[in-house]
Amino acid sequence: MTAKRRILVTSALPYANGPLHLGHMVETIQTDIWVRFQKLRGHECIYVCADDTHGTPIMLRAQSEGITPEALIARVALEHKADLDAFHIDFDNYHSTHSEENRELTYRAYEALERGGHIERRMVRQAYDEQAQMFLPDRFVKGTCPRCNAANQNGDSCESCGATYSTSDLIDPVSVVSGTTPVERESEHLFFKLANFETMLRDWTRSGTLQQSVTNKLDEWFAAGLKDWDISRDAPYFGFEIPGAPGKYFYVWLDAPVGYMASFLNLCRQHGWGFEAWWKPGSPTELYHFIGKDILYFHSLFWPAVLHGAGFRTPDGIFVHGFLTINGEKMSKSRGTFITASSWREHLPTEPLRYFFASRLGSGLDDLDLGLDDFVNKINSDIVGKLVNIASRCAGFLARSFDNRLAIKLPEPELYDEFLHKLSGIAEAYEAREYAAAMRDIMALADKANLYIDQHKPWLLAKNPDRAAEVHGVCTQAINLFRVLILMLKPVLPELATRAEAFLGGNELAWDDVQRPLMGSKINTYEPLATRIDAAAVKALVAANQQAEPSSTKAPAITGSKTAPNPSAQATDGEATIDDFTKLDLRIARIINAELVDGADKLLKLTVDLGTELGTRTIFAGIRSAYEPAQLINRLTLVFANLKPRKMRFGMSEGMVLAAGSDATDGGNAKDKQIFILSPDSGALPGMKVK
Ligand code: 2FM
Ligand code: ZN
Repeated sequence: MTAKRRILVTSALPYANGPLHLGHMVETIQTDIWVRFQKLRGHECIYVCADDTHGTPIMLRAQSEGITPEALIARVALEHKADLDAFHIDFDNYHSTHSEENRELTYRAYEALERGGHIERRMVRQAYDEQAQMFLPDRFVKGTCPRCNAANQNGDSCESCGATYSTSDLIDPVSVVSGTTPVERESEHLFFKLANFETMLRDWTRSGTLQQSVTNKLDEWFAAGLKDWDISRDAPYFGFEIPGAPGKYFYVWLDAPVGYMASFLNLCRQHGWGFEAWWKPGSPTELYHFIGKDILYFHSLFWPAVLHGAGFRTPDGIFVHGFLTINGEKMSKSRGTFITASSWREHLPTEPLRYFFASRLGSGLDDLDLGLDDFVNKINSDIVGKLVNIASRCAGFLARSFDNRLAIKLPEPELYDEFLHKLSGIAEAYEAREYAAAMRDIMALADKANLYIDQHKPWLLAKNPDRAAEVHGVCTQAINLFRVLILMLKPVLPELATRAEAFLGGNELAWDDVQRPLMGSKINTYEPLATRIDAAAVKALVAANQQAEPSSTKAPAITGSKTAPNPSAQATDGEATIDDFTKLDLRIARIINAELVDGADKLLKLTVDLGTELGTRTIFAGIRSAYEPAQLINRLTLVFANLKPRKMRFGMSEGMVLAAGSDATDGGNAKDKQIFILSPDSGALPGMKVK
């Protein structure tokens, strides 16, 4: 056994303005498995977390419910904790960022940064709601995109065309708080000078503890230049007032990661442990943060810089995972796949989801899919059909003929040793967060154990009283193989492991215990350890979560997003990312021919020139009601060029001409339907890419 390690682990602090969903559960389950594994190996591993309670959305949500923010966060904390407990997330401490420990540590960090010359004050112009008397974060201003004219876009970026801009560029801006037109106002803000830490951050990045794709991302950010970070917000704001800056509050993202330390400090104070030894630079303890890829910037740049500047140690690793998709798509309220943790536990057992996620999780940033049919099949096959089956097939013989006492010798010690030899590889996979590989290896062993039973057929042997010793041996062998598998799966299936430990005689299994098989001891009468998942329960879950898609005009205060640069921990299908946009190959095209289509009075057949790279294409466009062919010839427009070609009755359509239009409101009279094909400004040339 290696020397005992002292490890502090966190997962991202969930926002206190809404319920946990399955995206949150991916992360806490991934973290909890890792922590349980470390504990099982005998290391001191402490897992802390907290609710992330500050910021404008929480303040406004409390207002809209007619309660104080304190009352809101107290209620949400109880809801979150109940969900996390139900999924067996075994925190050593779950605290709140709205706590005295967090205030103390945030002030301590800030004051050290200020003393070190890392804070600067500057005037900032920002949208201000005169009626609500508050400055408006970008997400609280909506308006028309200055680039593509799409209505109802956020104050910082357009979901329709992907443009980013400043709120003052929005056309017809409206405050989502009061519905009035915001004005611009100046106010002094405090900035953290991130660029002061570039050398330190580059060294930290090169320390070898980050995933390769994370290091690549950081290199991109270094290349783009590190920008000062605005860490203050004006009153009214729910948070901590900044010392020496009356009416100014710390931006939620400053005190949120300090919440990791605060939760640990709170735990230290409960037990009288020393806090400083864990956080001083050069501490021999280890520190790891599990996070989703959307909050990497905060954790890989701001956070280590703040820690370093404030005289604390930096993390040894940031373990970044991808997003959860369900049935291959983003979680969707309309499809019933935006599933909250509480709704899952109302309909289905929670441990199988831990196993399913483990069977899909690697150490990378890839997204992970919960196919609901796959889930049912996997659990019924692996947990019920393979794992538990080993015990249930043999327990009856031991109870009936041997008073539940195991034999004193294994008939095939080599097979047992084969299982033991796999332990180190499985430990390495857990350590490296390659859980899917570990689950595969464990299930291959479960197959072996079942094969062993199939080959020895205790049910046939039991018919012959002379072969009782063989039955005893086979069942003892299988139960011991089962015991090794249970140990291997204990980080993933803690409750099932507890039930199995009771069945095996009551001792809690530690990692090295299986080196010696159970010989001659008594086990307990078998009780079912797991039951099949009923596909109907999954259907009911989806039905219960099916809702109308939220309209995009809804105030962000209620949607649960935060006011941060990259706010959605889990994008829903109402949203698109810039990656979605860049998948589209949009090009300037010149219409070189346009003609009527026989037998299709709504279509025109267009020949478009897409420049030298793409050449000419034929496109059938439903724009006949608005244009005569001759009007179109020689005109520039926009074409969606990598649209899958469509075979139509009249020929192949190889793209799509972009047009704006009102929906038909005239009961089907297409002539009155308004259609406007889009055109670039003069100077654009065929083949140019739209970005
Ligand atoms: O993205 C989020 O949900 C944030 N509440 C995570 C905060 S993690 C840490 F920095 F506190
Ligand atoms: Zn736009």
